[in-house]
Amino acid sequence: MTRAPEPADPAAAEEPARQRHVCPVWIGYLLLSPLRRLAESPERILAPLVSPGTTVVDLGAAMGYFSLPLARMVGDGGRVVCVDLQEKMLAVLRRRAARRGLAGRIETRLATQEEPGLTDLEGQAALVLAAHVVHEASRPQRFLAACRDALRPGGRLLILEPMGHVSLAEFERTRGLVAATGLVERPAPALRRSHALLAEKVAG
Ligand SMILES: C[S@@+](CC[C@H](N)C(=O)[O-])C[C@H]1O[C@@H](n2cnc3c(N)ncnc32)[C@H](O)[C@@H]1O
Repeated sequence: MTRAPEPADPAAAEEPARQRHVCPVWIGYLLLSPLRRLAESPERILAPLVSPGTTVVDLGAAMGYFSLPLARMVGDGGRVVCVDLQEKMLAVLRRRAARRGLAGRIETRLATQEEPGLTDLEGQAALVLAAHVVHEASRPQRFLAACRDALRPGGRLLILEPMGHVSLAEFERTRGLVAATGLVERPAPALRRSHALLAEKVAG
């Protein structure tokens, strides 16, 4: 059996696993609702954070509500690495991308709760998006350390969490875990229904 690589931080390496509820596939379809765009427009949230030609990661991508707009934003020279625990989510994402002529910019990867599988991207990603997924991670410290490691200097991590589902207190705990990774918090987009946190990997 292949062992998951240990994160550099001892705290993340020793973090005990917690039982977490993972979003079922049928909810993956609901997350694609056009109505969602009223409160959470991918273009409005992501356009200021994405440049053409860059590598971005959509961690917990599900069926690609954010991944396809990201693929349009990075353009032909960029790529979107879409990671999820569930192959069924990724299969729908691939079909949706192919129908829209975006398959060439999208790569899908199956993660485990132990390891998001980003080690080969170390220092490369301009943006890691973790939308509505941190509360599902059974090892959030590990998860956030992997996000940090994938970022290039100046790269940013954007975390969104649903307000109805994740309390402010839980979100503040996530904020503390992000600070512990060494990422530096920056002003985040203001959203009506989601908590948002933006953090940068400062060079040097
Ligand atoms: C609530 S859905 C959000 C999907 C998408 N980001 C969006 O906003 O529409 C959460 C997704 O994250 C995936 N997920 C949960 N824990 C994960 C982990 N540790 N690594 C990768 N994906 C994970 C689930 O399988 C599910 O598809």
